[in-house]
Amino acid sequence: MTKPLGLASDHAGLELKRALLTELEKRGIAVRDFGTHSSESCDYPDFAHATARAIEAGEIDCAILVCGTGVGMSIAANRHAAVRAVVCSEPLSARMSRQHNNANVLCLGARVVGTGTAIDIVEAFLGAAFEGGRHAGRVARINTV
Ligand code: RB5
Repeated sequence: MTKPLGLASDHAGLELKRALLTELEKRGIAVRDFGTHSSESCDYPDFAHATARAIEAGEIDCAILVCGTGVGMSIAANRHAAVRAVVCSEPLSARMSRQHNNANVLCLGARVVGTGTAIDIVEAFLGAAFEGGRHAGRVARINTV
């Protein structure tokens, strides 16, 4: 990975975000942290949009967003045409979302998955690559609304 990996959460995802940051740094993965940085209540769309805008600007290619369920983050991030965000609670979907859907944002629910499962999901996501081929045309059609 040449660009840093984006990482962000709201207050509900803060603890898991911090745990993931530690794990990613242990693995030598450069991370750009878009917040939040305190446990004070905040609004997940602010962090999803800030991260998505960095993808649109070409500053990052991929990101991980954490909120209570991962759902709000994914809905907000997917409003950006350059984003294909997925909520995953197990590794298979995370891997397939990269291989078949060329997902570039992984959303996690801190109230849904434990830290160990979250790390497995992140490893599956980051360890997989888009297969292209028959999937390329399908992914290209996602934005033809
Ligand atoms: C915050 O309470 C919660 O609504 C948020 O973290 C997220 O789960 C929304 O989808």
